[in-house]
Amino acid sequence: MDREPAARRLTELRELINEHNYYYHVLDAPCISDALFDQYMQELMQLESLYPELSSDDSPSRRLGGPPISAFAEVRHLVPMLSLDNAFTGDALLAFYRRLQKIFGMGSITLVGEPKIDGLAVSLYYEDGKFVRGATRGDGYRGEDITANLCTIRSLPLRLREDIRAEVRGEVFMTREGFARLNREREQEGLSLFANPRNAAAGSLRQLDPAVAAQRPLDLFAYSLVNLSNKSITSQWEILALLKALGFKVNAHVSLLQDLDEALHFYAEINTLRHSLPYEIDGVVYKVNDLLLQEKAGSTSRAPRWAIAYKFAAAEGITRIRDITVTVGRTGTITPLAELDPLLLSGSLVKRASLHNEWIVREKDVMIGDMVVVHKAGEIIPEIVMVLKKRRSGGERPFIMPQSCPSCGREAKRLQGEAALRCLNPACPAQVVERIIHFASREAMDISGLGESLAAQLYHSGLVHDVGDLYALTAEDLLKLERLGEKSANNLLNVLERSKNNPLHRLLYGLGIRLVGERAARLLAAHFGSLPCLAAATSAELIALKEIGPRIAFSLISFFQGAEAKTVIHKLKQAEVNFLEEQEKEGQEDLAGKSFVFTGTLQRFTRQQAKEMVEGRGGKVLSAVSKNVDYLIAGGTAGSKLTRARELGITVLGEEGFAELLNQEPF
Ligand code: IVH
Repeated sequence: MDREPAARRLTELRELINEHNYYYHVLDAPCISDALFDQYMQELMQLESLYPELSSDDSPSRRLGGPPISAFAEVRHLVPMLSLDNAFTGDALLAFYRRLQKIFGMGSITLVGEPKIDGLAVSLYYEDGKFVRGATRGDGYRGEDITANLCTIRSLPLRLREDIRAEVRGEVFMTREGFARLNREREQEGLSLFANPRNAAAGSLRQLDPAVAAQRPLDLFAYSLVNLSNKSITSQWEILALLKALGFKVNAHVSLLQDLDEALHFYAEINTLRHSLPYEIDGVVYKVNDLLLQEKAGSTSRAPRWAIAYKFAAAEGITRIRDITVTVGRTGTITPLAELDPLLLSGSLVKRASLHNEWIVREKDVMIGDMVVVHKAGEIIPEIVMVLKKRRSGGERPFIMPQSCPSCGREAKRLQGEAALRCLNPACPAQVVERIIHFASREAMDISGLGESLAAQLYHSGLVHDVGDLYALTAEDLLKLERLGEKSANNLLNVLERSKNNPLHRLLYGLGIRLVGERAARLLAAHFGSLPCLAAATSAELIALKEIGPRIAFSLISFFQGAEAKTVIHKLKQAEVNFLEEQEKEGQEDLAGKSFVFTGTLQRFTRQQAKEMVEGRGGKVLSAVSKNVDYLIAGGTAGSKLTRARELGITVLGEEGFAELLNQEPF
């Protein structure tokens, strides 16, 4: 293609890709297939490599991450990025409100309430509508230039929907799901784990290699605009609307609050919602809505007087470390675990906290017998924040990482480039039990009822040596186990039978091959179509696939060559477990753009199956009820989500209605 038509096509492609990216990542409502999107992207990359001089700031190729850098440049914030004052009680909020009433000489003040996202503040500069630079908050006056990493965040517009100059501020965060997935992958690779989604987001933004940042599930909510040139905007509420119109993702739970009562009510509402949100929040932020009033209230050097963060009571407490034990994971990773004097945190009893690896034990200087501060953020695993060294009595003992596996006694090794110590014995009992648990997990074969204790029982009773043996179990075998009644035994056999029909990607993920996570399993299953074809693939064939690198290829080949895998696969074949990947049905996108929330217990399908059915037809499954939800599917014992959905006038369907919607036969 000549230069001129190439330039035209490039502009067209950039617009097209940015637009579809917006539909997908901001509106959560994709309108073209992933395949077509990929095709546009390929064409763009090809043209850009032919004509590098035609590169542009708004090019979606920036999403893939540029070349690594050696250090971040410094950025001065023209308008300082202030912090927020905190309130921890309703009284403190009242005091904030009274002060404003006094300053303004007004009775009631309209506030905007927003969830306080637990992430990192960033500043985004746009010129002529193009994203030119982005920075961290730093000390509020000087931050770091993290433009290349920010470009990889799909919900960050590289091009605004108006060609204006603007400085937008917002919060970069990671969803709980994205964080859990990232840590799972890191665990499989023997890398150290992130303590919480916020740390994971921070670590990702500070990557010197943007290609690494591009692999991290980062997201962004915009919440303010500074240096407003558009004088017709007079309130925070209008700013939020403008940000949305410019193409940003704005949090859906923001609310305009007419008085203090409404403000308190908003806090209570968000507090109940908080655990069902897909990301972590640590409070709510109140901002005076009227920009002129904001100016009147002014700021201190630290924080504005027109805004406050009302923080949720932190689930934090002090307890003693009774002991530090070690556990062995599915891939042999040996992890130290703090055994705590039981402590009640936000309604659940905390008895253990992972210490991740021995470096973390050293870094935090944790000893057996120490008094420690334990923190539990949302439903995330509890974490040891710090040791109270002043409370040491002298009787504390250092933890010594064992050099042999606590389960099988074999020598543990640290593989090159890995932080974790690993047991390399594939027959190690702890690993076998963990492999059974993984195989049965929801994302893998979804064998509900087969959890930690049953997996251990099955193994230790000699009934199950590997996951292949699960399908040879009989009611008679199961009834021999302690605490397993006839009903549970039959349930388990039914679920096992049903799981035989799972598509290949689930089986593949369930086999627990190192480095083969859910995503790689789907990719491999889609490409090779059957387990025997995959098992016969050569390294070159594997590496030829996008996203499959030499390490995954090596891991797959060593797995399939191993005697153990051969035995398991033979057993699975004997049991007639499905080895094929289902073909995607074309034209079944009838639920595209519709979102669903499930609540209560479903009888006919597992949650995971219901989710897949919706997603298979192009629909979305969300975890929280909001006005963006189209259907609430309520099973037995549905609770607060049902009430909320009714309040919002969302269509509520029972399981039968759901089945009808999917055109399945009703019961
Ligand atoms: S407004 C001057 N709005 O909280 C206004 N901040 O503790 C300052 N944050 O640094 C920011 N959600 O990282 C604002 N909806 C929200 C927020 C929010 C989270 C963070 C932000 C800020 C920190 C202050």
